[in-house]
Amino acid sequence: MRPKTGLPKRKALRNYPVFECGLRENLMNSSIAHPNMMGEQYHNGTSVMSMFCGCGGLDLGFLGGFRYLGEEYRALPFNIIKAIDIDDRAIQTYNLNISQHGETGDLTSIDPRDLPKARILIGGFPCQDFSSSGPKVGFASERGQLYLSMIAYMRTHKPDIVIGENVPHLASLHGGKYLDQILEDIKATGYTVIVWDLFAPLYGLSQSRRRLIIVAVRNDLGLPPDAPQPKYLSKYLPIEHAIADLVDVFDESVTNQSQYFVATRATSGGGQGDHKNKRGELAYCIRANAKARIQFHYSLDRRLTVRECARLQSFPDEFVFPFAAMSNMTQIGNAVPPILGHAIASSIADYIEMLERGERITSNKSVCNSSFEQISFFLESKEVG
Ligand SMILES: C[S@@+](CC[C@H](N)C(=O)[O-])C[C@H]1O[C@@H](n2cnc3c(N)ncnc32)[C@H](O)[C@@H]1O
Repeated sequence: MRPKTGLPKRKALRNYPVFECGLRENLMNSSIAHPNMMGEQYHNGTSVMSMFCGCGGLDLGFLGGFRYLGEEYRALPFNIIKAIDIDDRAIQTYNLNISQHGETGDLTSIDPRDLPKARILIGGFPCQDFSSSGPKVGFASERGQLYLSMIAYMRTHKPDIVIGENVPHLASLHGGKYLDQILEDIKATGYTVIVWDLFAPLYGLSQSRRRLIIVAVRNDLGLPPDAPQPKYLSKYLPIEHAIADLVDVFDESVTNQSQYFVATRATSGGGQGDHKNKRGELAYCIRANAKARIQFHYSLDRRLTVRECARLQSFPDEFVFPFAAMSNMTQIGNAVPPILGHAIASSIADYIEMLERGERITSNKSVCNSSFEQISFFLESKEVG
């Protein structure tokens, strides 16, 4: 019989699910799959080097070739030639689901000359030290300076385009001093740079999540592209859109759905987890450093499961997380939502096509995303990531 309140309230799941295959094997016979997932190259695809790849949220967006909640995200003309992260578990998740290009390594001790030359460099450099819910120490920590690994790669290999991802608080921390420094360092390397301020629900996410995307284009190529056009301007998709069908699922018939943290009690403040989500609204931001304080389900008396968090981050159900709940939640919370990554990568693909036709962008609409003013009304106290 189904427990009245959903998953058992006070029982922690000690064992975690074992998966023999992930997204890429599930897509093996599918016509939508990206060739990289099959160990092949996208014919005429543009090469991509991925730094700080985590479990691969941004990378999956760049490849495309997946379905999320019945919608198809087409394969994009990119080839990821290498992806590096220091977290071995994240790399195992990456290699299980995306491709065998994932490698464990500390980017601060890798000489960029030992990395392959790619036309595009992508990387969500660690954000905890810039986040509104982190220690806010910025460059004072070694972690805050990790973007310098991307700068070193740019100096060595001069990629055409560089995409960096970070939290919005980077723009306001110390009056914007840290973001300014990063932009200055990028410009000094010979690039023109623009910052897109993207609110993920405008691109179909059922979660309040806003991220800064730093887009740099080598000076000889002209101006960078404008941000992707939002698709959901007049209404956003509430939390039920992503997870309502899981209300009666307590086992691994949907991957990672049996995995959750012991529930204590939902509280109503603090911005550090423990909130109860609300029906008809966007979910609270899925955080990487939530420890056991994952937000609560909107109608059941328990926290969100690993799969519900993955759904709210737009990972397909076939994308599996093979570790204990804490590691899985960290990987999921760290990720760029694949559908947001796909919107970003689609803009870059269009831009490359334009360059190849010999065209140039002559003016950008704005330095930040033009949708910023439209989105500000969405930004409530629930944005805590
Ligand atoms: C914000 S997450 C990136 C998430 C990723 N872009 C995605 O979409 O899934 C930052 C990543 O940087 C990694 N990292 C931190 N220090 C590192 C280092 N010194 N070398 C390589 N990776 C590092 C972390 O393990 C973490 O996965």
